[in-house]
Amino acid sequence: MASNFPKGFVWGAATAAHQVEGGNCNSDAWALERAVPSIFREPSGDAIDHWNRFSDDVALLAALGLKAYRFSVEWARVEPEEGVFSQAAIDHYQRCINACLERGVQPIPTFHHFTSPIWVARDGGLVNAKFPERFARFCDKAARELSGFQHACTINELNLPLFMREKLVSAINNELKTAAETALGSSLDSFFLFSPREAILKQGLKAHALARDAIKAHHPSCQVGATLSIQDEQAEPGAEAFRDERNAQFYDECLDALKNDDFIGVQTYTRLIARKDGTATGAEGKPRTMIGWEDYPQALANTCRYVFVKTGAPIIVTENGWAGYDDSRRSEFIREALAGVHEAIQEGVDIRGYLYWTLFDNYEWMSGYEPKFGLIGVDRETQLRRIKPSALVLGSIAQNNSLVAPVVESVKATKMSPDQESSPVGIG
Ligand code: BGC
Repeated sequence: MASNFPKGFVWGAATAAHQVEGGNCNSDAWALERAVPSIFREPSGDAIDHWNRFSDDVALLAALGLKAYRFSVEWARVEPEEGVFSQAAIDHYQRCINACLERGVQPIPTFHHFTSPIWVARDGGLVNAKFPERFARFCDKAARELSGFQHACTINELNLPLFMREKLVSAINNELKTAAETALGSSLDSFFLFSPREAILKQGLKAHALARDAIKAHHPSCQVGATLSIQDEQAEPGAEAFRDERNAQFYDECLDALKNDDFIGVQTYTRLIARKDGTATGAEGKPRTMIGWEDYPQALANTCRYVFVKTGAPIIVTENGWAGYDDSRRSEFIREALAGVHEAIQEGVDIRGYLYWTLFDNYEWMSGYEPKFGLIGVDRETQLRRIKPSALVLGSIAQNNSLVAPVVESVKATKMSPDQESSPVGIG
C-alpha cells in the first residue's frame, strides 16, 4: 500500500530517567533543582514515579500498539559514588528490560540523558579529560550486566550544548549562577547542558565512541548510536550563508564523527529561519507550541534528509513531539510529521523508526511540569495515567505500519488543564 512503512519499522515512544523516575537524588540536576534561587522552575521530586510503575507503564505502551520503548539508564543510580556500582539499580533496569520483552516491546536504553552523577559534575563533568573513560566504564558495567536489547543510544543530544549553552548563560543572572555553582560544588560548565563547545567536541565525542565500543563488546549485534538535536535550518533570501554557518557550527562536526555508526538518532521539534539581521527564529505569525517553538511538523523530514545527505547513515527518529493541551493538534502533528517521513523514505532516505517524545507528560527540565508533550497525561497528585486520543492515533498507525490506519479521530479530544495558560522557558 502506498502509505505503508518499511517492514520492521520501529514504532514507539521515549522518556528519560530524570524526567519520569522520581527521586534521582545522586544526580547533578537534583542538586541544581535545590539551589536557592534555582534555574529550574520547580524540583523534580517524585516525577511520575516511573521507577515504581515501569511495568504498568510499559503495559500501557504495549496496549496502545507501540512496539518500542526508549528509556534511559540513570548513571547516577548505577554508579552513585565513583567506582561504586549499585547492583540493585542494575537489577532494576534488567527488570525494566524484561517488562518490555514480556510485552513484545523492544527496549531501547539510552546511557546518558543530560544528567550525570553529582560526583562527575563536582569533578568538572565533560570539561574533565577523564569524562570519556568514566562514562565508558559505567557503560561497560551496565552493558556487561544488562541483556535483551538490540538498539541502544549512548549520549542524548550530544550536540545540544553547542547552541544551548550561550542561550542558557545569557538567560541567567549572577545570583542564579552563584546559587547553581554552590549547589553543584563546581562551575556550571560541568552540567551537561552548559558544556563548552570544546568539551563536547573533544570529551563528548570521545565518550560516545568509547561507550559505543564498550556496549558493542558485550552485545556485538546491538545497533548503537548517539542522538542529535537537529532543527530544520532554513533561510530567508540573502541569509543562506548564515544558515550554512549555523549548520556547520551546530551539526556538521558531530555528523561527521558519527557517520559510521550503526544509526544516528534524529531529534527534531521545529524549524529555524536564518535572517539577514543575524537572528534565527520560527516563522512570524505562525502558531507556536506550548514551549514556544513554531508548530512545523514538516521539519522532521527535512532534518532526516539533511542527516542522510551528510552521512549516508541509517536514521532512527529518536524524538519528535508537540507540546500543548490541544491533543487533536498533537494527533495531526504526528500524522503530518509521519507523512513527511514516509515521503523521505520513498525518496531513499534510510529511516528505520519513529519514537514519539514523549510517552507521558513529565518533568520538562528547567520548565518544570507545565509543558505537556505526552501521549498519556499524569495526574500530579494521584499519579493516575490518562490516555490521550493521540496515543491511540499513533498506536493504530504503529499496528498497521501505515498512515492509512483506522483513524481514532472520533475520540473526543481532551484537555488536561484547559484553564492553565503558561509561558514556560523550555530547554530549547
Ligand atoms: C530532550 C528531552 C526534552 C525534549 C523537549 C529534547 O531536547 O531530549 O529530554 O524533554 O527535548 O524539550
